[in-house]
Amino acid sequence: MSTFKRIGVIGSGAMGRGIAQLFAGAGVEVLLHDSRGEAIEQALAFNRDLLQRAVAKGKLSAEALAATLARMRPAYALEELAGCDLLIEAIVENLEAKQALFRELEQLVAEDAVLASNTSSLSISRIASACEHPRRVAGFHFFNPVPLMKVVEVVRGELTDPQVVERLAALAEAAGHFAAVTPDSPGFLVNHAGRAYGPEALRILAEGIASPAQIDRILKDCLGFPMGPFELFDLTGLDVSHAVMESIHGQFYQEPRYTPSALVPARLAAGLLGRKSGRGFYRYVDGKAVPEAPAAQAAVTLDRPFWLDARDAAVRDRVAAVLASAGVELEQGERPSAQAICLVTPLGEDASSVIAREQLPPARTLALETLAGFDRRRVLMRQPALDAQVLAQARQALGADGVPVEVINDSPGFIAQRVVAGIVNLGCEIAQRRIAAPAVLDRAVQLALGYPHGPLGFGDHYGARKIVQILHALHDLYQEPRYRLSPWLRRRVQLGLPLTAAEEGV
Ligand code: NAI
Repeated sequence: MSTFKRIGVIGSGAMGRGIAQLFAGAGVEVLLHDSRGEAIEQALAFNRDLLQRAVAKGKLSAEALAATLARMRPAYALEELAGCDLLIEAIVENLEAKQALFRELEQLVAEDAVLASNTSSLSISRIASACEHPRRVAGFHFFNPVPLMKVVEVVRGELTDPQVVERLAALAEAAGHFAAVTPDSPGFLVNHAGRAYGPEALRILAEGIASPAQIDRILKDCLGFPMGPFELFDLTGLDVSHAVMESIHGQFYQEPRYTPSALVPARLAAGLLGRKSGRGFYRYVDGKAVPEAPAAQAAVTLDRPFWLDARDAAVRDRVAAVLASAGVELEQGERPSAQAICLVTPLGEDASSVIAREQLPPARTLALETLAGFDRRRVLMRQPALDAQVLAQARQALGADGVPVEVINDSPGFIAQRVVAGIVNLGCEIAQRRIAAPAVLDRAVQLALGYPHGPLGFGDHYGARKIVQILHALHDLYQEPRYRLSPWLRRRVQLGLPLTAAEEGV
């Protein structure tokens, strides 16, 4: 049972109304306030509609509806919150406004009342610095829509009383949310862990490796993400996503892992914000993305055998089966014949590097992604010296069983490999910095971002050794600290431990 008897929610927008609904539904009395009275009315009406629809669908009983509505009441004046023992602030994302509100609340409520902020980007310790009793101030960062996103970050400011953190976590858990306790670190836990997905996709786009739609399709079909990074930018709004990237990059003092993309400012200036402006990386008509017409591929005669560099029997069998369905032969020799189309399967390297090292014929050699995904979508990687006829034959032969084939330009780690390696590496950094225990990190990211694995689980799934190999190759090729290995990752590979193996903190 909650140790809080009455919760005051300040700010009745998208987040405040969701927080009110969550706790009223969980049996706690909630007062909803906003500086604009009509916002309170709208929030209560919104919640009533939502709950009535749940009753109509048979997901909620009429009694539960009546009880929840009775527990959720308006507070038109801030003073009406005086008797609350927990105040959750969800007003505008502005440090001065939040500090002013917290100062005012301190004058109003009992000395042991807890003050929590739903801020997504401001330091809890800075908000608390305006208070007389910073010990009672904590972050309580929910995700939108609050009742459905079953995770909340409980942020421990530098001076927050551990009991306050425990009580907030217990309240969230009682309402059915996973409470991820995290220190007051830039982006907290989830927004920090999310810095490897979209930014690496923008980097791939900026390098001319593939189009936004291709990158989205590959990451969804080969790695199992529910949304592509560009679909996500369009949904969130590129202005909002870019501000988060700039803020986290700045707060970590220009850490190269978090460098924002130079592609973005021009797009913002042009109003290409996403769904809300009708055009972002996709165009929207009536709220729906206009699909790109697929480029028709003229059928070609398959008159060459294929050669594959992989020694791995499972990979060879899969490729041989597809080629057999196209009616072409897979050569078995150590080296390719003079006619063969050569398929290389690099881990982390680009096709050009493998061609140079193995002395393969550039006009006849291209790369095939084999780490992630083969059954839903295949990825072929060309390089600048590849013959167009060879590419046309490879594309047709590798799609002969009906699986779509994506052709991208040369890239160390294709697309899936470099994105997954970045997510794992960043997850390892977060674990190393003790921002979250491995299990907390993975669960919070899966719940908040919908990833098919947590960042560390991704590494264990694809093999941490392979992730290290990909990162070494990226680091060698770009010579940038962005791709340097996290010590957490290196040590666990050296010691033969899973990435999810926890370690004592300090
Ligand atoms: P919103 O714009 O939908 O609602 C904010 C409400 O606060 C408005 O109704 C406004 O009238 C009211 N307000 C502003 N200043 C006030 C004050 N001084 N006193 C009382 N009421 C005041 O904003 P939203 O999206 O609900 O965000 C609220 C907070 O939650 C922000 O700090 C935001 O960063 C954070 N947040 C938002 C998420 C989202 O997806 N929208 C996710 C997680 C956190």
